[in-house]
Amino acid sequence: MKIINGANLTRHQRNQAAVILAEQLPDGWSSLAEAADEVMESLEAGRLMLAAEDASGDVVGWVGALPQYDGRVWELHPLVVRGDQQGQGIGTILVRALESQARERGGITLMLGTDDENNRTSLGGDPDLYADLPGKLTRIRSLHRHPIDFYRKLGFQVVGVVPDANGVGRPDILMAKRIGI
Ligand SMILES: CC(C)(COP(=O)(O)OP(=O)(O)OC[C@H]1O[C@@H](n2cnc3c(N)ncnc32)[C@H](O)[C@@H]1OP(=O)(O)O)[C@@H](O)C(=O)NCCC(=O)NCCS
Repeated sequence: MKIINGANLTRHQRNQAAVILAEQLPDGWSSLAEAADEVMESLEAGRLMLAAEDASGDVVGWVGALPQYDGRVWELHPLVVRGDQQGQGIGTILVRALESQARERGGITLMLGTDDENNRTSLGGDPDLYADLPGKLTRIRSLHRHPIDFYRKLGFQVVGVVPDANGVGRPDILMAKRIGI
C-alpha cells in the first residue's frame, strides 16, 4: 500500500475514489455523480488530496483537506476507506500523511467536522444541545462506533459542536489537533 498525491490519480482511480465516498458516506454524497464532483473539487489548486493505492493499483481510501484561516488551519474533508479494507491502519496512514503535508504548508492546526446523523454519539438525538452545552461536550462519548474514537486515537480532541447542523438533534462535532508551531 502506498500513498499517492491526488494529482497523479488516473481517471479510473478517481472513479474508484468517488465510489468509495458514495458507499461510505451516503448521508453526505447520495449519488456517484455528487461523489465524483467532490473528488474533482478536492483536486483543485490549493487543496490537498492523498489516496491509498494497493499493490494492484486500486484506490482503497483517500483524504482531502482545504486551507482555512490563511492556511494556519487545514480542514480535513473528507476521509474514507473502502469497506473491505477498514480496520487495517489505512485511515491512520492517510491522516498521518495529511498531517505531514499540511504542516509542510504552514498548518498549525488540523481540524474536521464529523456529523452525527443517527444518534451514534451521546450528542445525537438531543433536541436541545444548547442546554448545558459545555457539560455535554465534556461527557461526549461514542455509542455505536462513531468516528470520534478513531480521531481521538490519532490525537484529535473535541473542540466544539454545531447543534442541529443536519437537522434538529443531528449535530456536526468539531475536532482538532495541533500539527505544527
Ligand atoms: C473512519 C475510517 C476512515 C477509519 O479508517 P480505518 O482504516 O478503518 O481505521 P484504522 O484501521 O486506521 O483504525 C485506527 C484505530 O481506530 C479504530 N477505529 C477505526 N474506526 C473506528 C470507529 N468508527 N470507531 C471506533 N474506533 C475506530 C481502529 O479499531 C483502530 O484502533 P486500534 O489502533 O486500537 O487497533 C473508516 O472506518 C471509514 O472510512 N469509515 C466510513 C467513513 C467515515 O466515517 N469517515 C469519517 C467521516 S468524519
